[in-house]
Amino acid sequence: MDFIELAEKRFSVRQFKSDPIEPEKLELIVKSALLAPTACNYQPQRVLMIQGDEAMEKLRQLTPCHYGATAAALLCYDSDACFKRQDGAHSGEIDASIVGTHMILEAADLGVGSCWVMFYDPEKMREAYHIPEKYIPVSLLVFGYADDSAVPNPFHTACLPEDKLIFRDDFAK
Ligand SMILES: Cc1cc2nc3c(=O)[nH]c(=O)nc-3n(C[C@H](O)[C@H](O)[C@H](O)COP(=O)(O)O)c2cc1C
Repeated sequence: MDFIELAEKRFSVRQFKSDPIEPEKLELIVKSALLAPTACNYQPQRVLMIQGDEAMEKLRQLTPCHYGATAAALLCYDSDACFKRQDGAHSGEIDASIVGTHMILEAADLGVGSCWVMFYDPEKMREAYHIPEKYIPVSLLVFGYADDSAVPNPFHTACLPEDKLIFRDDFAK
């Protein structure tokens, strides 16, 4: 499968089967998180892998958007480790999001479904999983095998036209 096919194939899965993800597949998803580019290669990503009955039960209490997932990853960055620009901007959320993109696409390549989730309370997540203060949660990814009933939401194909999303320096014309 070429990359565009893979990107088209991936969709947000919102109903997972209870079948566990094989450990070797989870390892590859984790590996993809290590290979992501980060600003200055500072590698500030800190990814909490949420696996096993106890950790997943906690997650089910923390967000309705678990969709019956069998594993999850909370993407965080270390606020001491990320690149900081002179104007105050920093790379933490960008770096963590690139990591997440690697992970969902690697999962899709392995036939594992995923959904990117922002609907949770980061402070409750911090408390539940004992996340250090300097690790800032950015997003949650939930993983599992898509239930047979899982189909792409209409949003999946609702792409704005290219000329709205890609612009070139022709505003002055
Ligand atoms: C930053 C971000 C946050 C999201 N948060 C949620 C969420 O909290 N719950 C959910 O069900 N989907 C969430 N999604 C999934 C989007 O709704 C979905 O990616 C979008 O509608 C496009 O559909 P597709 O992923 O099937 O292509 C989120 C996606 C992104 C990128």
